[in-house]
Amino acid sequence: MCGIIGFAGREEAAPILLEGLARMEYRGYDSAGIAVRSEERGLQVKKTKGRLQALFDLTHGGADLEGPLGIGHTRWATHGEPNDINAHPHISEKGNIALVHNGIIENYLEIKEHLIRQGVHFTSDTDTEVVAQLLEFHYNECHSMLEAVGRVLRRIEGSYAFGIICSDYPNALIAARKDSPLILGYGKGGNFIASDVTAIIKYTRDVAYMDDGEIAVVTADHIDVFDAELTPVEKQHSLVDWDVSAAEKGGYAHFMYKEILEQPEAVRKTISPRIREGRVVLDEFSMTAEEAQSISRIFIIACGSSYHVGMVSKYNWERLLRRPVEVCLASEFRYSDPLVDEHSLVIVISQSGETLDTMAAMREAKRLRGRTLAIVNVVGSSIAREADHVLYTWAGPEIAVATTKAYSTQLVLMDLVGLYLGDLLGTVDRAEYDAILSELQALPEKMRAVLADITPIQYFASRYFNHDSIFFIGRNLDYAMGLEGSLKLKEISYIHSEAYASGELKHGTISLIEPGTLVVALGTYGPLFDKAMSNVVEVKARGAEVLAVTTETFRERMEKTADATVAVPDTHPVLQPSLGVVPLQLFAYYVALQRGCDIDKPRNLAKSVTVE
Ligand code: M6R
Repeated sequence: MCGIIGFAGREEAAPILLEGLARMEYRGYDSAGIAVRSEERGLQVKKTKGRLQALFDLTHGGADLEGPLGIGHTRWATHGEPNDINAHPHISEKGNIALVHNGIIENYLEIKEHLIRQGVHFTSDTDTEVVAQLLEFHYNECHSMLEAVGRVLRRIEGSYAFGIICSDYPNALIAARKDSPLILGYGKGGNFIASDVTAIIKYTRDVAYMDDGEIAVVTADHIDVFDAELTPVEKQHSLVDWDVSAAEKGGYAHFMYKEILEQPEAVRKTISPRIREGRVVLDEFSMTAEEAQSISRIFIIACGSSYHVGMVSKYNWERLLRRPVEVCLASEFRYSDPLVDEHSLVIVISQSGETLDTMAAMREAKRLRGRTLAIVNVVGSSIAREADHVLYTWAGPEIAVATTKAYSTQLVLMDLVGLYLGDLLGTVDRAEYDAILSELQALPEKMRAVLADITPIQYFASRYFNHDSIFFIGRNLDYAMGLEGSLKLKEISYIHSEAYASGELKHGTISLIEPGTLVVALGTYGPLFDKAMSNVVEVKARGAEVLAVTTETFRERMEKTADATVAVPDTHPVLQPSLGVVPLQLFAYYVALQRGCDIDKPRNLAKSVTVE
């Protein structure tokens, strides 16, 4: 989604802004722009539709804009089509205020009409321009930028992160946030604002996370933060625990490929600090046995791949915990009048920690007095800070839009939480607890073994990449894993794909199977392997071409029926999706590669979805 960077320092701002925007390209955008201020030339603004390269060319790499103070933005259109005029920064009518914005202003039309009646002229279709004009309106009344920003924030409704510069303020940029992330960066030669830490990580790892309602005044030497009443606020600094190399491709063709390969290590980092002396220890989420007993219902809420993690956990947790587990799409949950109460444990899963629907669902759960636990990757993100408890997945920065390592670390963290709760509830016996825990610790090595043998998957991708519709089938955990395999494929290769619970085929979908239809059959879940095989036979009988993913134990049997088979190492059945998903990720990757798709930045998609 949209990205913001701002810089106040002593060197030229434009190249720094362009570089920061480039580091946020992965989030998805359709236009970009920068505004820079200098003593001699005042405010200078350049913006354009299209890729950042277009902005780079337009500004000659930033050389055309002069000054040590500036803001930059990558836009993902919400109000008004992607074009040069609707791109940010937006400028007030008199031209002395430039503003960039992430989020949505809900009452912009009403304010726009009011301003039009006051004689203000608008040039764009955006909600953001309304804020720039309103700010100028109030600034003309009170002649203090801070006061004017305060007045604007009291007037607008919706979500926002703002970066603002004003030609009357040569040294300072102003930032404000509500429901959209904004980070303050304390650098050596200047200070920063950014919506995403990757934008500024090259310059500083010393950051502070702005809270809702806060306003920051950023100069080269200071960052002063105020609350909504303009009372100064002391911010706590955090040190980002990864460096710039973690957010770079490091010689790989795509971030997605790099991130697939990083999975064993990411999984190890997520698991190992949480296993001590043969027990799961969750320092950030400890509960007494009585508290655990008082949980009558568990909700897992998420979107996209994070939701698919919830699907796997539902199967596992209901078996291990003997408690009802409901998995909910955040966008549905928030409007469904959910049956959450003080006996509900509500788990929200989010890589970014900024997904608006997930955040809104979590707030609704909190309002209903549910106890919330967030499983999040991005440290300091909004969901992480608002949840009652947070457990971080230690996947490191995930840049590719299609998630891989974040999904895998979410899975294992949910396995750990399941074991922890099962132990407290007394529903998992000691032998099974030990068996799962020991297999969890063996997962990184087994994932490495899968990744060491990717040639067959490359071959299958080159054999099947031309299909225009692909079905994933499986039962139980294989079905949940198929949902993720199918999403991976469709989001990066643009091939139509659906995942079905195999047993449902005969209730309708099997009518779509005809000679040559590609079916990816998942048969890794041992307890239901025989049933899964019957479904493979069923689709083969109708002429389907079957690519199967199974385990070493079942390889031979599967090979007798399927046209092509990939086998992953065996592990405890509840953990099998952690291994089975890897060939599916690789299959999607190589199919997309064959089709020449923009793998890291698929069309129409954004890395974190901060609008509804
Ligand atoms: O950051 P989140 O985990 O909350 O994001 C949820 C989905 O938007 C995300 O998983 C999306 O489906 C990915 N593109 C899948 O690869």
